[in-house]
Amino acid sequence: MSSVSLQNIDISYGNVPIVKKLDLTIKDGEFLVLLGPSGCGKSTLLNAIGGLTDVSGGSIFFNDKDVTWTDPKDRGIGMVFQSYALYPTMSVERNLSFGLRIAGIDRATIEKKVKWASELLQIDHLLDRKPSALSGGQRQRVAIGRALVRDADIFLFDEPLSNLDAKLRAELRLEIKKLHKTLKSTMIYVTHDQIEALTLADRIAVMKDGIIQQLDTPLNVYNKPANEFVGSFLGSPAMNKVEGRLVSEGESRFFIAGDFRLDVSRYPFAQNIESSRKVVLGLRPEHILPANGSAAAIEGQVSLVEPMGSNILAWSTFDGVSLSHLVGQDDSCEADRTFPVTIDVQKASFFDAETGWRL
Ligand SMILES: Nc1ncnc2c1ncn2[C@@H]1O[C@H](COP(=O)(O)OP(=O)(O)OP(=O)(O)O)[C@@H](O)[C@H]1O
Ligand SMILES: [Mg+2]
Repeated sequence: MSSVSLQNIDISYGNVPIVKKLDLTIKDGEFLVLLGPSGCGKSTLLNAIGGLTDVSGGSIFFNDKDVTWTDPKDRGIGMVFQSYALYPTMSVERNLSFGLRIAGIDRATIEKKVKWASELLQIDHLLDRKPSALSGGQRQRVAIGRALVRDADIFLFDEPLSNLDAKLRAELRLEIKKLHKTLKSTMIYVTHDQIEALTLADRIAVMKDGIIQQLDTPLNVYNKPANEFVGSFLGSPAMNKVEGRLVSEGESRFFIAGDFRLDVSRYPFAQNIESSRKVVLGLRPEHILPANGSAAAIEGQVSLVEPMGSNILAWSTFDGVSLSHLVGQDDSCEADRTFPVTIDVQKASFFDAETGWRL
């Protein structure tokens, strides 16, 4: 078992800085997900942890041991990549055991480990097949198995599910979660898929341009995004964003955007806010609720409804502000009609209009 500590990490390609002064500590046995858009430096950082990419500054520790310049093979890690990179001419059994045979491990131990990993991943009936005779999901299981047999303390996954179709992705996601529960190893998992991040992670590190924007539990990252970027990056359908001002009137505080006016006195601001501060209101569609006769209702003019299976995404205009909101199938919300809603202000987010950081 191992904790991983990244201290003041810089990574550049040529003169181009990719990862910048990054600090991150991953606890022993933790499932940490690195989440961020394409090109933000997730794989670069993961490869540095695995020793496949050199850092240009800073240190990497596994427990108390400085491994910054340790050879990848001596780091005690198992890596799984997006492309399975199996040996096409070898059987599943040979693919699984290859690394162990190269390392000169005895036959009995190899057999035991291959049996253990293949049973765990439910590929023990496929040991004689070649990769070409496997489905994508089965191939990815072999790739995971190859990392498992190496007795790693730390597993690094780089988008292992992104080549699979949606159903298989969901299945294997669950398998990886079970695997973590069974093995209790430290796992670092890179993805740009927010559902994978939210379902798998103990904590998520949301990255943008080589910098961690927020490091927190899935619930906190989703409910209390640290800035506008994190708020928009997570959530489907996406968070509504409205530019406006906060105005104090007596004991009350209002958010005002043109003719749109919302009492936000109940929002738990983390700091003192001067009146007339320019802000961005972030509102998730599920926090704008059908009013069901509530006195606090505001009336919207519905312009469009999108059925999404279990519920419906409606687009309505409230005093000039267009918001998407979720309604049930029985709520009789139809385009070109009006529809009353209430806004759950306590679950909203306010961001500073200039810096984008949460208020
Ligand atoms: N070998 C390289 N030489 C030069 N630039 C590179 C190299 N590898 C990656 N980059 C650049 O570094 C940046 C970060 O790349 P990285 O692969 O870490 O992104 P990522 O977050 O993993 O993206 P994705 O989700 O698309 O895999 C990108 O701008 C990329 O073009
Ligand atoms: Mg990548």
